[in-house]
Amino acid sequence: MSTTEICSYPTVQELSKALADYVANLSRETVSARNRFTVGLSGGSLPRILAAELKHRTDIDWDKWIVFFCDERLTPLDSEDSNYKLAKEELFDHVSIPESNIYTIDESLIADAEEAANDYQDKLISVFAAMNTAKFPVFDLLLLGMGPDGHTCSLFPGDAYAEVLNESLAWVTFVENSPKPPPRRITFPPTVLNHAHNVAFVVTGEGKKVVLNKVIDLHDTTYPAAMVKPINGKLVWFLDDAASANLVAL
Ligand code: 6PG
Repeated sequence: MSTTEICSYPTVQELSKALADYVANLSRETVSARNRFTVGLSGGSLPRILAAELKHRTDIDWDKWIVFFCDERLTPLDSEDSNYKLAKEELFDHVSIPESNIYTIDESLIADAEEAANDYQDKLISVFAAMNTAKFPVFDLLLLGMGPDGHTCSLFPGDAYAEVLNESLAWVTFVENSPKPPPRRITFPPTVLNHAHNVAFVVTGEGKKVVLNKVIDLHDTTYPAAMVKPINGKLVWFLDDAASANLVAL
């Protein structure tokens, strides 16, 4: 059964502390049960808010972390637009996750979104198919952001993205016309997000308060973030008070 929790904090700094506690606890529990911790990261403001406190924690088995990106922009890995580069600067450079446990896109495939998605899917299969024979990878934790238009990962609202939003087989899919630059991206589809054990959204700032009401209170699935409902997992919203100001559910 799935459960949803909504937490709101007066400041982003307090949110970061609570998020670090949540991630550290989950990491500890999961490593003791399964001897590894599979995590999916997103871009945007998430890596900074996540790492602010987490990178100082000394009670985390970083060598047990296996990291994928829930979405990635098809750019060189050292580009300012790369989600990997951001996560590296904010988190990886400060902690000891083995490099071989961090799964990046293949830079040589960035001109072909479909090939890049297939290659990234093969990487997921190499880790998850050995672990469970399920139809989808089951991540221990997916960390997501949400844009003011209700997008999450590279799942954007609108008919132009219907195929990606309704993808029911692939583990990784792609967009070639993202409304947020850069245009070519790969992304987990909603089905993969909904198979995770734990999903945490991190959403801050006044600019998100209108869409949060549509997503959380009204469950309006024309906003892709509202499609995230883990089938057997837990969903937690980490919000600041500016973002949660309109919420009825809180
Ligand atoms: C991306 C991100 C994206 C991001 C949201 C929220 O690659 O663009 O993965 O889904 O998380 O756009 O970004 P902010 O937190 O910066 O608003």
